[in-house]
Amino acid sequence: MFDYDNIAHASKAELADFIEAHGLHPPDALITRAGVLRDKIYGKRVFMRALVEFSNHCTKGCYYCGLNRGNQTVNRYRLSEQEILDALTRARSFGFNSFVLQSGEDAYYRGGKLVNIVRAIKAHFPGTALTLSVGELFQDEYKSLFSAGADRFLLRHETANACHYERLHPPGMTLASRLECLQALKKAGFITGAGFMVGRPYETSEHLAEDLIFLREFQPHMAGIGPFIPQSDTMFHDFKAGSPQLTVTMVALTRLMLPRATLPTTTALATLSKEAAFLAIKAGANVIMPNFTPETRQGDYAIYNGKKGIQKSTEGGLAALIRDLDEIGFTADFSRGDPLVKEG
Ligand code: 5AD
Repeated sequence: MFDYDNIAHASKAELADFIEAHGLHPPDALITRAGVLRDKIYGKRVFMRALVEFSNHCTKGCYYCGLNRGNQTVNRYRLSEQEILDALTRARSFGFNSFVLQSGEDAYYRGGKLVNIVRAIKAHFPGTALTLSVGELFQDEYKSLFSAGADRFLLRHETANACHYERLHPPGMTLASRLECLQALKKAGFITGAGFMVGRPYETSEHLAEDLIFLREFQPHMAGIGPFIPQSDTMFHDFKAGSPQLTVTMVALTRLMLPRATLPTTTALATLSKEAAFLAIKAGANVIMPNFTPETRQGDYAIYNGKKGIQKSTEGGLAALIRDLDEIGFTADFSRGDPLVKEG
């Protein structure tokens, strides 16, 4: 019998064995444990964050991602500062107090442009929380963005195994530089998020165990975990999608590792299975990020095929989401939703 109480000390082999034996069928005992732990710290609240994908330009060549620089079929776009503010104004009108700005690694915004956008957002919407997800930057750039008022930063570690990392990324991208960035983000003062995909090409149960051990050691304030979904214009178009059930198992194990972190139920998971996306909430997830990217651009932000959220970000869609959450005993929470983590 797996010792859930002792997970903080479980070895890589124990975790890998558990994942191998039960990953595809998350045991009720695991889901319940993880849910109870979330309830103890956060209650039955699910934090709502408005996502705006403001640029799909990218200088990187990640093999799994549809936005990789080599993909000539992408219709590339950038939103202007005004378009970003308009999208967030719409989210504000629905009551959101927490925003996430995501983009490819677009050099256009370096050297001050993103800093100015952050300042404008914080001036327009005082008291709201702003999360950035814009990839690898120099320490000084992270510092400037934090000084400008950004509160949080998501940078998935992608895989904690250096060899596996190299099989998913082109030469020049290394796990070491990823981890340096994550350290730099924490040092700059950001509430910092890591995370990974489940069912990545070449993945083993040992890799998943290593991801959990990395999270336990790094103690991010947030962690995003979603299934890999093949994108037809990438090198990995022929690989299978990750299992939604295995993704739920990994969310639950992550909750046991990081009791105080905020964990989204991801758009990728909802894309494969709405049922699994709600099961992830029962299993400890407590964030949903409805997409407020202008509708005309949403199709161009094709990280993977068939992307769709848990609900559409319209008045009707959000009302339906609130009802669905209510039905499983949860409340949609539109506050800033700060992670309840200790400093450090
Ligand atoms: N399937 C699922 N998730 C993906 N990401 C990138 N490509 C895919 C894909 N094909 C995830 C990565 C990245 C985040 C922005 O999206 O983990 O960090």
